[in-house]
Amino acid sequence: MNILITGGAGFIGSHVVRLFVKKYPTYNIINLDKLTYAGNLANLSDIEDNNNYHFTRADICDYDTVYNILSQYNITGIIHLAAESHVDRSIRDPFAFARTNVMGTLTLLQAARTYWESLPERYDGKRFYHISTDEVYGALPFDDTLFTENTRYNPHSPYSASKAASDHFVRAYHDTYGMPTIVTNCSNNYGPYQFPEKLIPLFINNIRHGKPLPVYGKGENVRDWLFVEDHARAIDTIFHNGTINETYNIGGFNEWRNIDLIKVLIDTVDRHLGNPAGHSLHLITYVTDRPGHDLRYAIDSTKLRDELGWQPSLQFEEGIDRTVAWYLNNPQWLDNVTSGEYLHYYETMYNNR
Ligand code: NAD
Ligand code: TYD
Repeated sequence: MNILITGGAGFIGSHVVRLFVKKYPTYNIINLDKLTYAGNLANLSDIEDNNNYHFTRADICDYDTVYNILSQYNITGIIHLAAESHVDRSIRDPFAFARTNVMGTLTLLQAARTYWESLPERYDGKRFYHISTDEVYGALPFDDTLFTENTRYNPHSPYSASKAASDHFVRAYHDTYGMPTIVTNCSNNYGPYQFPEKLIPLFINNIRHGKPLPVYGKGENVRDWLFVEDHARAIDTIFHNGTINETYNIGGFNEWRNIDLIKVLIDTVDRHLGNPAGHSLHLITYVTDRPGHDLRYAIDSTKLRDELGWQPSLQFEEGIDRTVAWYLNNPQWLDNVTSGEYLHYYETMYNNR
């Protein structure tokens, strides 16, 4: 198989690329990424020399380039992760989210449709797998309800609205043109290589520097956290064994109130740094709430477990411990992405290509 993975230089994408490159030496894995602030080839330095790995810098909104890559590599499967992914940025710049998440996804769909329909076998043996988020379902109350695959879409942020629109386009390409599509909606991921604007890596980095930890509102919002390698395993399972035109929810059955998670994080970082218990608690700083802040997310991933046998493998405490250890053992990665120097490096390296 020749598989195009979009957004492979980002957080989740880099784990998916690594898993596929190592696990499937007979597949060609083509990583298409624009290398925005969130894309970082250092995330893949351990596999970049593998023969079955290819990187191409491109924008998913660029139809001609995307089409040429599909045809040049004779792409049979697409795993689409490229996106603008941070809610706070979407509040500041919603157009960037509509451009990449909606128009970019549509461009990729149309290029894949045109290319695959030009082949004698058309859609046979092809697969377009779109990675989405539980945020499209909106917010749950503080009770025991969960998002299922049948929950009505009700996005609140420009980010989740743009992901919802892209999900609808993917399903429309199945219904209208017969494209073999799959959509998955996953809960919050955490783990190595996450850009330190998201809660967990931001707070680990701030604790490391003794900087304030900005807790939105009262810190009572609830998220369902999944270790990123478990998400990558789910993507592998679903890409190979999922049923066309189905949706699968992916989650950890692992709900945490932000403030409780932050206290676990502080304990873990302090322990790793050799600080006395409670040393960094004073860094907690309550700040103005995020506008439209969704109260609670919680995923029911029973369908994925029952139909395809996937389950999260890590207990949260173990996942947090591994995550904290990774960031503290890789301070140069954190310093590099927070200094912005790496962006300049890529601009120079890929200028005019
Ligand atoms: P990320 O921001 O870390 O990475 C996104 C990647 O996409 C980057 O490498 C970036 O360079 C690339 N990209 C952005 N715009 C592009 C464009 N126009 N063309 C080509 N490449 C472009 O995001 P992530 O957290 O790894 O999320 C990956 C996917 O998973 C997204 O679709 C996101 O909506 C979804 N998702 C994320 C989470 C989460 O908790 N992080 C949870 C559920 C679903
Ligand atoms: P985030 O990592 O941005 O993911 P998402 O918004 O996609 O769930 O945020 C996780 C939770 O943490 C969310 O409820 C917002 C909150 N949060 C803070 O309280 N402070 C922060 O600085 C950040 C980035 C997030």
